[in-house]
Amino acid sequence: MAKITAGVTTSHVPAIAATIDLKKQALPYWAPIFKGFEESKKWMAEHKPDVCILIYNDHASAFDATIFPTFAIGCADEFLPADEGWGRRPVPTVKGHPDLACHIAQKMILDEFDMTVVNKMDVDHGLTVPLNLLFGDLGPNDEWPCKIIPFPINVVQYPPPTGKRCYNMGQALRRAIESYPEDLKVVVFGTGGMSHQLQGTRAGLINKEWDTRFLNGLTQDPVALTKIPHSEYVRETGSEGIEMVMWLAMRGALNENVKEVRRFYHVPCSNTALGHIILENV
Ligand code: DHB
Ligand code: FE
Repeated sequence: MAKITAGVTTSHVPAIAATIDLKKQALPYWAPIFKGFEESKKWMAEHKPDVCILIYNDHASAFDATIFPTFAIGCADEFLPADEGWGRRPVPTVKGHPDLACHIAQKMILDEFDMTVVNKMDVDHGLTVPLNLLFGDLGPNDEWPCKIIPFPINVVQYPPPTGKRCYNMGQALRRAIESYPEDLKVVVFGTGGMSHQLQGTRAGLINKEWDTRFLNGLTQDPVALTKIPHSEYVRETGSEGIEMVMWLAMRGALNENVKEVRRFYHVPCSNTALGHIILENV
């Protein structure tokens, strides 16, 4: 049977993509950020998942104001990197796992989570930056080392889902994965966050204390985090801090007890707080 072995969270700051694409990782501003992922890349290279489910948000690249599904799953064979204004990123095309993705869609819908099935979609920095951070700087002629199922959650168009709904959705995702008959090692990602506000008078807002409490809670007491209302995310972590509900979706897919094997927190990254955790199911 397919089995979830671990969960990964990381911020997905697009300036990281530009830094990689322009080969500026060694600059003093960026070097500590990439160094923070060296151990994680080693962990991933040793862990060798067959499939990653990548829970992220689209930033009006594949979807726009005409349509924004709350929970969607990419069931296509492949997904091209999106053109976010500077052409497509020079990273590998994402290869999906249509059979597992369709199985998950069917199981989750019958389990009362009404997924939007997406058969054609480009994937933006919410998905490609975490792949770079965990798998390294691969070019357009390389291949990501495993299959990747994109799993976008809307946090852009009001109203986004609650953290509790995302956590419960993660539990349904786990039930769906564990009912797939093939022996597959699956890692679930939740990307975005941490505290950040990109516009307005509070642009650049960082709340290290709140972020630290969220990182601790993610490992030790995620159910407590599911009680955080939207208003607290916005007030304490800025207008884009709501991306952290996707971390709760990832956490819902794991065991109650997990082992935190990696943590990294760094300020600033662009004008945001960057957070990263790896949790293994025990
Ligand atoms: C930025 C954009 C994001 O989507 C994000 O999650 C963090 C930072 C940015 O434009 O800097
Ligand atoms: Fe984002």
